[in-house]
Parts: sequence; structure tokens; C-alpha cells
Amino acid sequence: MNFRSLRFKLTVWYVFILGVLLIAFSTFLYLTLEKSLYRSADNKLRSFADLIGSESASPLSKFSLGSIDKTLEATLNLKPVGKFIQVLDESGKIGPRSDNLRNVQLPISLTALKNAAKGQPTFETNRSFEGGPLRILTFPVMEDDRVARIVQVASSLEDVEDALNKLFIILVVSVPLALLVASVGGQFLASKALRPVDEISQTARMITFENLNQRIRVPKVRDELSRLIETLNEMISRLDRSFQQTKQFTSDASHELKTPLTILKGEVEVALRKERTPLEYEQTLKSNLEEIDRMSQIVNDLLLLSKADSGELRLTKQEINLGEVLSNVIGQLSRLAQVKNLHLETSNHQDGIYVFGDVLRIRELFVNLIENGIKYTEPGGFVRVTLSEEKGPHGESPSTVAQDSPSGFATIVVADSGIGIAKEDQERIFDRFFRVDKARSREQGGSGLGLSICRWIVEAHQGEIWVESTPGTGSSFTVRLPLSPH
Ligand SMILES: Nc1ncnc2c1ncn2[C@@H]1O[C@H](COP(=O)(O)OP(=O)(O)OP(=O)(O)O)[C@@H](O)[C@H]1O
Ligand SMILES: [Mg+2]
Repeated sequence: MNFRSLRFKLTVWYVFILGVLLIAFSTFLYLTLEKSLYRSADNKLRSFADLIGSESASPLSKFSLGSIDKTLEATLNLKPVGKFIQVLDESGKIGPRSDNLRNVQLPISLTALKNAAKGQPTFETNRSFEGGPLRILTFPVMEDDRVARIVQVASSLEDVEDALNKLFIILVVSVPLALLVASVGGQFLASKALRPVDEISQTARMITFENLNQRIRVPKVRDELSRLIETLNEMISRLDRSFQQTKQFTSDASHELKTPLTILKGEVEVALRKERTPLEYEQTLKSNLEEIDRMSQIVNDLLLLSKADSGELRLTKQEINLGEVLSNVIGQLSRLAQVKNLHLETSNHQDGIYVFGDVLRIRELFVNLIENGIKYTEPGGFVRVTLSEEKGPHGESPSTVAQDSPSGFATIVVADSGIGIAKEDQERIFDRFFRVDKARSREQGGSGLGLSICRWIVEAHQGEIWVESTPGTGSSFTVRLPLSPH
């Protein structure tokens, strides 16, 4: 048996508490019975003494004639079976006694005599009497306010003590027996209640990264354990999901890096096959450089995301004037739009919309979104950027607003008239490496990490990002960032 096990501890507690209860109950039972038996014996003695006392108030000679027994029978029609009677005169001298006391006297204690002298009765138990334990009542008979005689009545306590002894034996045997049965029952109950725990640990031990799809069986009965199992199962599901994501991510990342490497290798091999002119070498090297740039972009993005995941990436936050950052980014990308014959428009947004954030990351966010707009819009189309603000309930006095309830939001919308995104893909475009049309996106130099980075940046600024899009008509990306409280 494992003494540290929950099963053992539960059983011990159960038996201990039951033991305390049973012992308390038995003691109470024994003491109550003892008291009531003694009281009933005393009451009988008392009423008997009263009877004799009144009778013996008549001249003592009535008794002195012969035996008390006969007199009692003659006068009171009373047979004092099992009772011992002894009459003493006021000085304590022993007078007549009942037949059963022919050869012995009832013992009389000093205390009883003293009490009798004061007119008070005394009950005593005497165990030295040869006929067994006795309960003795020493009862003064008063005449004209003084003690005339003392009547002693006694009865054997054998029956009372017998009954008490029997009860004692029954209790001494049955309480440990009950505890023994309870400990076996307790063990059984504890085992039954804890069986699912064994099952949980067995299944949990079997679950490794290879079989994260396994779940612990949930019992039909809804209790604490079933809730625990559900919680564990949810945890395993989360582990499973993130493990699958990691697996997917690793395989996507290696695949993504493998393509430019293969191209690079092919180009170099072709170039080395024979002697080339310097121009041809230059062209090959230029093309190589493109692939290398591409790879280093992917590696940089991956590094950024993995740092973001592990929380290593620290944002250097400051007040940012969004209008200023946007104009800057648009200025930088307008060349790209021009080349593609696209209208890169910007609404006349108000100045003075501030957020508290990392300016480099916010720039990166806008570049990614506008670049996507340009990339996925056909020539002749447009990409429109709008900035607006939405004051919160405490709008005018932001200084009184706590950090977690912003004074409002800045809303940036990047809309285009491009190819659009099908409904089923809209959720997934923020996933790492997800591209709607791999070939097309690759052609444009995309690896599918841009929007994952955007989502991370927005979340790191306690904001939200979402997309609305109709295939063939265009897409609109909305970013909502909490306004700076100052
Ligand atoms: N404005 C848009 N219109 C249509 N499709 C878009 C738009 N923006 C993104 N997408 C789709 O979502 C996919 C994911 O975008 P994301 O920016 O993450 O990757 P990417 O642009 O392909 O590559 P990267 O940004 O890493 O260079 C894109 O491949 C494209 O299919
Ligand atoms: Mg992109």
C-alpha cells in the first residue's frame, strides 16, 4: 500500500472521523444508560425507604418482634425480594434486619451517619459487600423534628452492572469491527472515485508529440473529475494545434527557402557549364543577387516573427503622428505605383491624430498593406489610403481616461480596386506563408509573411485588423489603433 496515495489519505481520514464519532457516541450511550439505571435503582430504593420509614414510624417493637420480612408482609402485604433492610436507632446502634441479613450487617459509613444526623438521606455504592456490589440508601426517619431512627435499604447492583458490562463489551467489540469494515469500504469507495485519475495518468503518459490527437475519455457523469479531464483535453488540443502549426511552419519555411536555393543552384550550374562572356556572368550574378535578396528577406521576416512569438521583440514606443508617417510611406511607394500605372490616392486626412507606438513597426505595417494593394491591383486601378479618428466616450478629456480604456481610435483604411480575395481565403491571408495564388504572388516577390507581420504589429499595439473584399472588385484593409491618451 502506498501511504502517500490520495486513496490511503482519504481512507485514513474517513476512518478517523468515523472512529471519533463512534467513540463519542458509545461513550454518550454508556454514560446515559449508566446514569438512568442508577437513577432508577435509586428511585426504587427511595420509595421503598419512604414506605418503610412511615411504617417504622409506629413503634419499633413492631419490627423487633421478629423478622422485618414477616412484619412487612403482614402489615403491608409486601415481599421485599432482593432488598436488604436494616434499622438503626438514633444513636446508630443496629436494630432489626431483614432475613437476608441474618449473618451480616449492612455497612454504614461515617458520612451517611453524619448526613442522617442532619436529617439528610445518603446514597452510596459499596463494592466490598460479600454478596456483590450494593447500592445503599441511608434514610433518617424524623419524628417531632428530630431523628428517631435510621432506615437503611439496599439492593444489589449486580443486574445494573451486568447490563453495563454487557454494553461495554458490545461497544468495545463492535466499534473496532465497524471501523474495520469502514476502512475496507472507504478504500473501495476511494478507489472507485479515483479510478478515472488512474485512467487520466495512463492516457496522459501515452500521449507524446506523435499522437497528440488522442484524448482522455470523459466519463458520462458530470463531476469535478470530468471537468478536469475536459480541461486537460482542451489543453492537449491547444498543444496539438500549436504543434501542427509549428510543423506546418517549419515545412513551409524550408520549402520557401528551398525554391530560391534551387533557382540559385541551377543558374550557377548553367553558368559554369562553359566559358561565358563577362556580360553573361554579370547577368547571372544579378539574377543570383535577386534570389539572395529574396532569401534574406524571408529569413529576416521569419526572425522577426519568431522573436515576436517568444516575446523577445521590444517595441520602442513614442507618440506618433499617423498623418505624417502615412504621407512619408505614400511618398516612398508612389514611384512603385507610378511604374504600375496605378493611382495611389490619399484622402485629405486631418493632422494631429496620434498613437503611442513603435514608429518603425507602424511604418512597416503601412508599407506592407499599401505594397499589397499595389501588387494585387491591375494597371489603371487605384489604391486609396484614408486616415480618420473616432473619439471615445471620454473624447475631450483623455487625461482622465485609464490606460486600458483608450480615448478613441485611429482608423486607417487601405482600399484597392484589385483582384480581391475570395470569402474562404479572407480568414487565412493573415496566416504565415498563406498566399491565395502561390505562383502569382511569388512572381511578385511575395512569400506570404507580410500580413502575418501586419497582424502581429497591430496586436502589439492593442489594435485590430480586418479585411473586406469582393473578388474582381477590390479589397479594403482596415486597421484600428487606440489613440494616444496624451
Ligand atoms: N490587397 C490585396 N488584394 C488581393 N489579395 C491580397 C491583397 N493583400 C494580400 N492578398 C493576398 O493575401 C496573401 C498574403 O499576403 P501577404 O502580404 O501576407 O503575402 P505576400 O504579399 O504574398 O508576400 P509578402 O508580403 O511576404 O511579400 C497574398 O499572397 C495575396 O494572395
Ligand atoms: Mg504582402
